[in-house]
Amino acid sequence: MGRAYDARAEEYVARFGDLADLAEVDHALVARWRGTTTGALLDAGCGPGTWGGLLRDGDRTVLGADVSTAFLDHARATQPGLLLARASLEALPLRDGAVGGVLAWYSTIHLEPARLPAALAELGRVLAPGGSLLLGYFAGPPGEPFDHAVTTAYFWSVDALSGPLAAAGLDVVEDHRRHEAGSHPLGALVARRAR
Ligand SMILES: C[S@@+](CC[C@H](N)C(=O)[O-])C[C@H]1O[C@@H](n2cnc3c(N)ncnc32)[C@H](O)[C@@H]1O
Repeated sequence: MGRAYDARAEEYVARFGDLADLAEVDHALVARWRGTTTGALLDAGCGPGTWGGLLRDGDRTVLGADVSTAFLDHARATQPGLLLARASLEALPLRDGAVGGVLAWYSTIHLEPARLPAALAELGRVLAPGGSLLLGYFAGPPGEPFDHAVTTAYFWSVDALSGPLAAAGLDVVEDHRRHEAGSHPLGALVARRAR
């Protein structure tokens, strides 16, 4: 996975490497969600660190994990305030309950369906009680693969994700959907760990 993104890193950064490249409705969603969290934040599958500045908003502690070395190099150069690690979101180098919020923005899209529940459990593990996960995904028939520009990705639905999220101790509290011309339908959900 890391190599697939490494090979396309320059192209990806040119297209999505700046916050201004991302939809304003998503800025608003991520900023509002951030405001509901406390403590450190984890950008799980942070890519080139595009969300870093908005998540930090000055002085908030923001950790970033990704498997792409090229993306991490870019994030290090452009977002010096982020604490970055080369790590899979399936095995995070963090203690239980280490963060108050996890952003997984289109970073679980490539996980084969059988691996998704364990990955969601790992994201849930690092969330403190009361913490929340904001997860962006492509909405469609759950678990169905499709050709993504980098490598195979899978559609999900909020209903299909609710079960594995509940098993991970996370309850879905927000369900967002939108459609952008030229893209698959887009979904985002917020799931909260009980206090
Ligand atoms: C579509 S990009 C999104 C990047 C970033 N979240 C953003 O919104 O710009 C998907 C990212 O997830 C990362 N990724 C995919 N599978 C991963 C895994 N198992 N562990 C960590 N990162 C992963 C990729 O390397 C890539 O950076």
